[in-house]
Amino acid sequence: MKTIGVLTSGGDSPGMNAAIRAVVRYGIYSGLKVLGIKEGFKGLMEGKIEEMELSSVANIIQRGGTILRSARSDEFMTDRGKEKALNILKVFNIDGLVVIGGDGTFRGALDLSKLGVPVIGVPGTIDNDLGYTDYTIGFDTVVNTVVDAIGKIRDTTESHGRASIIEVMGRRCGDIALQSGLAGGADSVIVPEVGLDEVNICKKLIDSRNRGKRHSIIIFAEGVGDVTPYELGDIIKKNTDIDTRVTILGHLQRGGSPSAFDRTLASRLGAKAVQLLLEGDAGKLVGRRNGVLVAEEIEIGLSMEKVFDEETYKLTDILSI
Ligand code: F6P
Repeated sequence: MKTIGVLTSGGDSPGMNAAIRAVVRYGIYSGLKVLGIKEGFKGLMEGKIEEMELSSVANIIQRGGTILRSARSDEFMTDRGKEKALNILKVFNIDGLVVIGGDGTFRGALDLSKLGVPVIGVPGTIDNDLGYTDYTIGFDTVVNTVVDAIGKIRDTTESHGRASIIEVMGRRCGDIALQSGLAGGADSVIVPEVGLDEVNICKKLIDSRNRGKRHSIIIFAEGVGDVTPYELGDIIKKNTDIDTRVTILGHLQRGGSPSAFDRTLASRLGAKAVQLLLEGDAGKLVGRRNGVLVAEEIEIGLSMEKVFDEETYKLTDILSI
């Protein structure tokens, strides 16, 4: 193996830059030529590729976003799109590819792998929604961002004696809501894995008001489904007469400097991806389970079920009485 490519794809996450840095530096250290592919699979099809030097990744370990930029590409999912990508890989003599992203990115990686491209997936997504790894790069940072936001919203919520509903990201996975709910001392956490029980939420609010509590924090994971946070606010007002405000944290959650945890995870996984390519052990997703780095066949890793942390969910509820 002489030349490898690296790209970031799908929703960006804090720590992607640290992963790119690790791939580039470990690759060059190992005698490889490393090419940076801009804008994910879209940029791959378009040949938006340039050689990375040691200096290309200087001063980026602490930066949010991705210096290689990211995109979601429908065209790449077509046969024609993959054919274009294969041609470009040939033109640039790319013998191995590291893709950093989430499940959509890994499905693209699987397709390329089936077409004979040596590819390794590095989990970069704030959602923490991949079953084969305990942590994805960006998750720790987003939890810290949300906890910080909860603290600020709590100040004003308490001053006004209100209930605040805070919507967080995570698509179909409630991990961001769950971990930030526990760390932020939320009264209720609503996640897609469990669903919404309006009656219980209203009852809890009334009970805590009767005990003299002046404010409440409700974390609402996007992807819960039927009811929006605003509709829940109306339901609470109608049933409890408690004034409610809604904050959608949105894309604020995807930015910012990565935490030390995410930087170390990204550095270790980026280097591991290059090692596997060098050892000829491609077609894998790298991750971390029980503190140890792991590598799973892409298809198997993608099919591993994400286990919902029931214990943390119950604990958050118990500690919020
Ligand atoms: O998958 C990462 C994620 O941030 C999800 O949490 C969220 O639902 C989605 O991406 C938002 O995507 P976009 O930036 O395309 O709106």
